[in-house]
Amino acid sequence: MKNSKWQVQDAAELYGIHNWGVDYFGVNEHGEVTVKNRPGQGDQETPLLNIVKDISERGMSMPVLVRFEDLLEDRIARLNETFAKAIKLNNYQGQYRGVFPIKVNQQCHVIEEIAEVGAKYNHGLEAGSKAELIIALAHLENRECCIVCNGYKDEEFVDLGLQASKMGFRCFFVVEAPGELDLIIRRSRALNIKPYIGVRVKLSSIVGGHWNATSGDRSIFGLNITQLMELVERLKQEDMLDCLQLLHYHLGSQIPNIRDIRSGVLEACQVYLGLVEEGAAMGYLDLGGGLAVDYDGSHTDDTHSRNYHLQEYCEDIVDVIIHTLDPKGVAHPDIITESGRATIAYSSVLLFNVLDVANFEPKHIPEKVPEDEHQLVHHLVESLNAANPDRLQECYNDAVFYRDEIRELFKRGQINLRTRALAENLFLQVMQKLLSLSPKAPRDLKELQKLKDQLSDIYYCNFSLFQSLPDIWAIDQIFPVSPIHRLDEKPQRHAIIADITCDCDGKIDRFSSPEGMQRTLPLHHLNDDEEYYIGVFLVGAYQETLGDLHNLFGDTNVVSVRFNEDGSYEFADEIEGDAIADVLTYVEYDPRILKERFRKLAERAVKDGNISASERQQIMTAFSESMQGYTYYEKE
Ligand SMILES: Cc1ncc(COP(=O)(O)O)c(C=O)c1O
Repeated sequence: MKNSKWQVQDAAELYGIHNWGVDYFGVNEHGEVTVKNRPGQGDQETPLLNIVKDISERGMSMPVLVRFEDLLEDRIARLNETFAKAIKLNNYQGQYRGVFPIKVNQQCHVIEEIAEVGAKYNHGLEAGSKAELIIALAHLENRECCIVCNGYKDEEFVDLGLQASKMGFRCFFVVEAPGELDLIIRRSRALNIKPYIGVRVKLSSIVGGHWNATSGDRSIFGLNITQLMELVERLKQEDMLDCLQLLHYHLGSQIPNIRDIRSGVLEACQVYLGLVEEGAAMGYLDLGGGLAVDYDGSHTDDTHSRNYHLQEYCEDIVDVIIHTLDPKGVAHPDIITESGRATIAYSSVLLFNVLDVANFEPKHIPEKVPEDEHQLVHHLVESLNAANPDRLQECYNDAVFYRDEIRELFKRGQINLRTRALAENLFLQVMQKLLSLSPKAPRDLKELQKLKDQLSDIYYCNFSLFQSLPDIWAIDQIFPVSPIHRLDEKPQRHAIIADITCDCDGKIDRFSSPEGMQRTLPLHHLNDDEEYYIGVFLVGAYQETLGDLHNLFGDTNVVSVRFNEDGSYEFADEIEGDAIADVLTYVEYDPRILKERFRKLAERAVKDGNISASERQQIMTAFSESMQGYTYYEKE
């Protein structure tokens, strides 16, 4: 039902869309969430619902991960152009040479896109393993792009990187642990290839946020100052100080406070100066990742947000380097950042449909409770009638007491199922009434505040949290969540979202809102004749990579959308999600053996007279077809 006073702008505010959506996501006058087609190039927007319809017309089922190539392109462009602007403005002598850390989203189509768009800006790749180095080498055609090799490196890794350097790549080995240097020196001598050496330093600066274990003295990776000096000595002895060109540090992902970022660069610049004084060639300062995404749209130093913009980030870095190095007359290094989430998060949206709703509304309550019902049931009716704003707590206490007494009696067999059902429904009726009266209560009552959450609906949705949004489960990450249509109607329900795994952790029950964190999300009643779609936004970083097969829900369908100048769009890439046979093979089952086992069972059932031979055929066909089906809920 449309509410005449309700405007789509109210919905945009309620879901904070303009706060977290940057200028990529918005709401149109029909109450549909839209995506900006070509950011920075006109105002055309496309409703996500159109994309959902097009996807389903092509026979693909929900859930679907939609990747917007134009948004990814825009992020790379913004990062590079904002740094370029800060560099020009401050007359900085070095260049910006970003690298995308492959681990943040290793999907082939994503890396292809980054390599293609990044070539224009000399934007390279960061590899944390041999496999990632192979990806980098196969995708970067522009040799000006850097390849930064982090992580522990064995001989094969080092040899591959050395060969890449010989081919003309700037392929840096970042020494993460003291022992690695020997290997690099040994292999470079053996292959007679001069290595590009970098070193990761542990800074004492500590950052806020969730991922701060990579900062401070106890951080796991990198060399402390003593080890750094040993590395310099060793390179001096080997006459290889000219190979040491890069200083790297990484204080943590998603650094919410710009002051922490400034303080990290300041300390790193002093280390950089020290290395130059020692005679190292230097030339590159690699700040690692950390550029944060404003997931909750609050623009604060909260873990899920950031208190700075990209421009401030770039200008602060340039400013600190200039003011630290200029007094010592040291040349400005090229600046590398390994920005992962800030590059890729915006470009992916997870879309799914709602399958069912459980609510906590009282049902089947008679007009009048029969006289001969249990006394405790009558007490519940009295609590209901007595509820008023001045007696909320008292009514609440009484109702909980009577409900618990009834449950006890039921356990002992002294109350039957019908009476128990009536009592449970009466209790819910009391709670709903208390909730509706609570705004008029003279003071806030803590227990009643929780009622809203306790009585909220559960919307069962077609996705797996563990596969598509693992960070919600693992680290309480917040992502923006919103229905993608019907925003011209006031949402009348409050709900948590449950996925279709049979795991009690498979739920979303923390939502960002302009009023702060909420335990429930406002949603609309389901209409009988239409699907209801929800989007989880900003999920491009880490989620695809870290997702797992809990309950054997596999990869979702993926669609890459590319917009044309005329406002139309095409599906540049469609990747079918895992079939059931796929996920079974991931956990070592052989679909052929499973089929054969089932065939034997079916044959026995024919022999035993339970089914006919032709029924066996039907069952076998259904079994085989299931194997090829999507692992998620499919509508007929
Ligand atoms: C060494 C290194 N570089 C870059 C990143 C990417 O960080 P972010 O996604 O915050 O940009 C990480 C992630 O933690 C990292 O460990």
